[in-house]
Amino acid sequence: MNTKQRIEELTKQLNHYNYRYYVDHFSEVSDKEFDMMMQELQELERQYPEYAAPNSPTMRVGSDLQQEFKHVRHNIPMLSLSNAYSVDELLTWYDSVKAVYGKDVAIAYEPKYDGLSISLIYRFGKLAQAVTRGDGVQGDDVTENVKMIERVPLYIDQPDIKAQSRFEIRGEVLMPFESFAKLNKQREANGEEPFANPRNAAAGTLKSTRSKVVRERGLDVYLYEVPLRFTSKEWEQDQCDLMNYLFGKGVPTAQSFHVGYCVKDGNENYTIDTDCFDRERLEYAINDFVLRRPLMDYPIDGIVFKVANRRLRRQCGATSKAPKWAIAYKFNAERMITTVRDVTFQVGRTGQVTPVVHFDPIPLAGTLVRKATGNNADFLHEMHIAIGGQIEVEKGGEIIPKIVVGVDPCATKDFKEVTYPKYCPECGAPLVKDGSNYYCIGESCPAQLQARLEHFVSRDAMNIQGIGPKMIEEWINGGIVKDVADIYESERLETFFSTRIILSRAESKSVPAHRVLFALGIRYVGASTAKLLLKHCGSINALAAFATACPEQLIRIDGVGVSIVISLGQWFSDKKNLELLSRLQAIGLQMKEKIAHPSGTTQKPLAGLTIVISGVFEQHSRDEYRAMIEQYGGKNGSSVSKNTNYILAGDNMGPSKREKAEQLGIEIINEEQFLNMIENEKL
Ligand code: IVH
Repeated sequence: MNTKQRIEELTKQLNHYNYRYYVDHFSEVSDKEFDMMMQELQELERQYPEYAAPNSPTMRVGSDLQQEFKHVRHNIPMLSLSNAYSVDELLTWYDSVKAVYGKDVAIAYEPKYDGLSISLIYRFGKLAQAVTRGDGVQGDDVTENVKMIERVPLYIDQPDIKAQSRFEIRGEVLMPFESFAKLNKQREANGEEPFANPRNAAAGTLKSTRSKVVRERGLDVYLYEVPLRFTSKEWEQDQCDLMNYLFGKGVPTAQSFHVGYCVKDGNENYTIDTDCFDRERLEYAINDFVLRRPLMDYPIDGIVFKVANRRLRRQCGATSKAPKWAIAYKFNAERMITTVRDVTFQVGRTGQVTPVVHFDPIPLAGTLVRKATGNNADFLHEMHIAIGGQIEVEKGGEIIPKIVVGVDPCATKDFKEVTYPKYCPECGAPLVKDGSNYYCIGESCPAQLQARLEHFVSRDAMNIQGIGPKMIEEWINGGIVKDVADIYESERLETFFSTRIILSRAESKSVPAHRVLFALGIRYVGASTAKLLLKHCGSINALAAFATACPEQLIRIDGVGVSIVISLGQWFSDKKNLELLSRLQAIGLQMKEKIAHPSGTTQKPLAGLTIVISGVFEQHSRDEYRAMIEQYGGKNGSSVSKNTNYILAGDNMGPSKREKAEQLGIEIINEEQFLNMIENEKL
């Protein structure tokens, strides 16, 4: 067997094993055998790259190396969608669309997949880059991670696409319910914090710096938009036809339907009538998805309605945030009535005692919900919450369950009033009321310490991975931890630490100062407040000085209220806390905020340029070009003057503008040249 044949054989076998593993969840060979074959193929492909298959399984091999994500500028900004919550709002949107064309137009509808948007870039049919939405202008290069998603085609074997030096398709990466349940079960077994919803889990996974993690967690993808530049043939203009066509070529596209009823034309072909967006048909479309949704094994949070003809969309234009040719109809949060079984009290990191209402399990938005916060004593009272009484609970895909209505317990026979404790259920110290909340004032309350430590190591705070609630409980029971600094200093704790914890703890020393401040768990100082405070004060030490010496300076900050300032003043005047801070500083945690470059890490490509738009365009509307100029740092000038750097000209450019441009020697560029100017890399 020659080298070429061996490469082909290995490729075929490994692709087969991958298929069996990911699709059938079955391993035909041991991990070791698999890895050895993979190594052999990698080595052969390194020596003879000309024989490597475009769909080689080596392209899916992830590395476990830590990698920072590269920022990549989007060729066309990745916009968001406007939302509608009622049929009336949808009809108003449709009227505005209809006004653009002066007639009815066909509308397509698709699930609004609840994940993260992604842009996949294929060069000559081969997946070259995958970029997250980021801030819409630039996103993170997550190519290696996206290659680990089973349904992402690494190669699109289709002449039209292979002929393109650049073919882009956008869509959503999400986590199916089954993968989500499996992942959270595993995390809980390992004592790790479970993800709140599939969307967060998908985000955490896609941004993981270890591609292997992505492979194991079973992410999926649905693709729904191809920039207009690809459109050449008649059928490619229709959203549903394009989705179906690409699906047939192995691309995991969105399920896209036309609003309206199917009718047969004279040639026995099915078409839809274009006069299609009345209330009745709209309600039919919504109901279609309301019925389908419980059967879907992935999360969706609404329906996206779009002008079906992709070419027509240009005329609708866009605001700087969202296109006008599409709208998202968001499902209302699901609600259900259930019976309260118990109310327990939980002590948080600031000593706040919060009631937790336990009820008969109810299925809501893809998960089984068993409990919800009872907030505080006033809330329990207002909602008539009593054991044996009924409540109505609401949950959307995003949010945590919320009690929305209490059903008067007198309506049910056997109910028991809830009595609020006078002493801390954990340490027995008296509870003190502040506003509507009660606080435990126990100096050494184990529940407070537990919550403080859990918060300190959590993802949005210091992100020290591998330390779970069970492990912390053991430390507290053994009396070997007193405060958060012990995690770095105590020799007795070291015996609990795996290599992973030690590495992650070392990395936490470069976590920015605003997250260190958040990690301290000061009452009312959440993640965004911490960021705001450090943006103004520059360092935690300066903040301490402001909080104790001139708190009025802090109140001036927009978004910082009196209760935050009082809480900061109390925290920073406690000697114990100041000692803790100086220990954390000595350990090497970041105490000073790094100043971010105002325009981000890279210079925007149109910075300092004034561009005047004139004429009618093919690929984008004038509004879209206007938005693009601004998003890429340029200025959109209204008339040609000596300050104009370029004129972006389409068809029928105004003759006076052309004359003036020629007089002043200003360069005239077309759409293609403009799009090349903002493209992240030249082909
Ligand atoms: S079309 C210009 N179609 O929803 C944006 N978006 O809330 C065109 N989304 O950013 C997007 N499913 O990430 C479109 N079938 C679908 C979608 C969808 C989910 C996401 C998308 C967008 C977000 C807006």
